[in-house]
Amino acid sequence: DWTPDNVIADQVAAIKAQVGSSRVICALSGGVDSAVAAALVQRAVGDQLTCVHVDHGLMRAGEVEQIENDFVASTGVNLIIRNEKERFLTALAGVSDPETKRKIIGREFIRVFEDAQREIVAEAGEHGEEVKFLVQGTLYPDVVESGGGEGAANIKSHHNVGGLPDDLDFSLVEPLRTLFKDEVRAVGRELGVPEEIVSRQPFPGPGLGIRIVGEITEERLEILRRADAIAREELTRAGLDHEIWQCPVVLLADVRSVGVQGDGRTYGHPIVLRPVSSEDAMTADWTRLPYDVLSTISTRITNEVREVNRVVLDVTSKPPGTIEWE
Ligand code: XMP
Repeated sequence: DWTPDNVIADQVAAIKAQVGSSRVICALSGGVDSAVAAALVQRAVGDQLTCVHVDHGLMRAGEVEQIENDFVASTGVNLIIRNEKERFLTALAGVSDPETKRKIIGREFIRVFEDAQREIVAEAGEHGEEVKFLVQGTLYPDVVESGGGEGAANIKSHHNVGGLPDDLDFSLVEPLRTLFKDEVRAVGRELGVPEEIVSRQPFPGPGLGIRIVGEITEERLEILRRADAIAREELTRAGLDHEIWQCPVVLLADVRSVGVQGDGRTYGHPIVLRPVSSEDAMTADWTRLPYDVLSTISTRITNEVREVNRVVLDVTSKPPGTIEWE
């Protein structure tokens, strides 16, 4: 019988058997999946777990603070935050191809983890246990869509599946590999992960890096962060968070169009709103958001983000469009 309790019991036993007395590190992204994976591993092996959050500079406004406040406060887990903005921006400089971006982000992630591993081992001293395991919140749809499932096409390299380098120095612990999102949420609630995390909408590991169509720069990230914060704020204010699966906000950085703002001509960038409704992200429909909410978001973004002079709505289902633009 599928119940959250059974999944927890099975996975706790499996994790204990796999990990033994080794130390384990977990990539905590701030999303539901990695939080629930971490909580499961903590249940299984307690203090052998250290969580690492890589601040790759591709997060949305306020997210790093949220990880520190919500998750650590509720679980008491050991957390290291690594500020790696420079490293990621440098590695991504000049790159606009989506799969190349994803592979670079995946590769740098693992390198940062290997650094963290060395630090944890050094701190533990010569009698400390080795860190041999890396926990990832990979879900079943990630496995399928990265070409890991039987007969599946490789649609995108999700950074926590297809984008790993070949010379990986860790064994992976992936306790959510057979689960869908709603099942992960049920398991998380049963484990006592706070509701603000469990009900959070999905956000991709490569973050805003795959929501800028074109090259990623600090300036473009800042434009997108401001537009995204406005969209999220207005959707929450309108009470729509539970009606949409997620709403990517995308900056078309290589596209410019003519507008008129204030008393002059502008030549700015479009922002795309991509609200979707879905059960499991494998398929999705575009969400029919109320016009007045769309209107408020559009007005605020074009008023408050100077570089943006047009807001457009993506009305494509999946398939044929994927949820993210890259
Ligand atoms: P797509 O764009 O493939 O997205 O329709 C399906 C779901 O997966 C999320 N997504 C990712 N999640 N790492 C993740 O952890 C990734 O690399 C990644 N790419 C897409 C996306 O936000 C949507 O919920």
